[in-house]
Amino acid sequence: MMDTKQITRQYHEWYYNNGVWRRTTFLGVVCYKSVSDMWNYQEILYRLKPSLVVEFGTYQGGSALYFATILQAINEKSLVLTVDLFMEEDVKARLKNNKYIKTMHCSSIDPRVSNEIIELRKIYNGPVFFILDSDHSKKHVLAEMESLRAVTKPGDYLIVEDSNINGHPVLPDYGEGPMEAIIEYFRKYPDDYSHDRESENKFGFTFAPEGFLIRQGAIS
Ligand SMILES: C[S@@+](CC[C@H](N)C(=O)[O-])C[C@H]1O[C@@H](n2cnc3c(N)ncnc32)[C@H](O)[C@@H]1O
Repeated sequence: MMDTKQITRQYHEWYYNNGVWRRTTFLGVVCYKSVSDMWNYQEILYRLKPSLVVEFGTYQGGSALYFATILQAINEKSLVLTVDLFMEEDVKARLKNNKYIKTMHCSSIDPRVSNEIIELRKIYNGPVFFILDSDHSKKHVLAEMESLRAVTKPGDYLIVEDSNINGHPVLPDYGEGPMEAIIEYFRKYPDDYSHDRESENKFGFTFAPEGFLIRQGAIS
């Protein structure tokens, strides 16, 4: 008889390898997420009550629309800042019409992004929910996490997505990615974040293993 770990791993592999996440939509717009992660984020957002969400990696804008919809139901004065290197005109047009979404078209590690977050924090009070979903190489994710050191505050929430690749447990041949970035980051800065294991483990599998993080300590 299989134990729970084996069952959830098999379900994770089935879900990922069949590309269910590529065919998942929110209000008709593609949203590259597992639906249980999306529900989990909704629960975290409701508990955290942020007025600002920062997303790295917009793609078609489905996740930005999702976060904006949840956020405005929690907090009328709220904003999703979503950053992407490439944004098609139809994506720009789709998001421009939503007063709860602001887009930036540059690399997530561009210093302009950190400056914008600092400015937005002055307007949108309270904790911030960050989600990293752009370039999934270890180097880039580590650079994103390091760039957030200067703009995060204790109590902020950080999701590092796609730490399931490179064999954790999917895409075993991917090469070093978000999981290895998280490990390296914790090696360098062991006290910056604690793990929210309750949320991480809640639905049995997640595309962000080790990636449900709560900012601790002082800002450096
Ligand atoms: C996985 S998709 C994002 C999916 C989206 N968050 C969703 O849930 O539907 C990754 C996106 O990251 C963008 N990207 C890649 N490198 C980037 C970088 N250095 N800075 C910002 N965005 C980047 C890509 O253009 C792509 O649109």
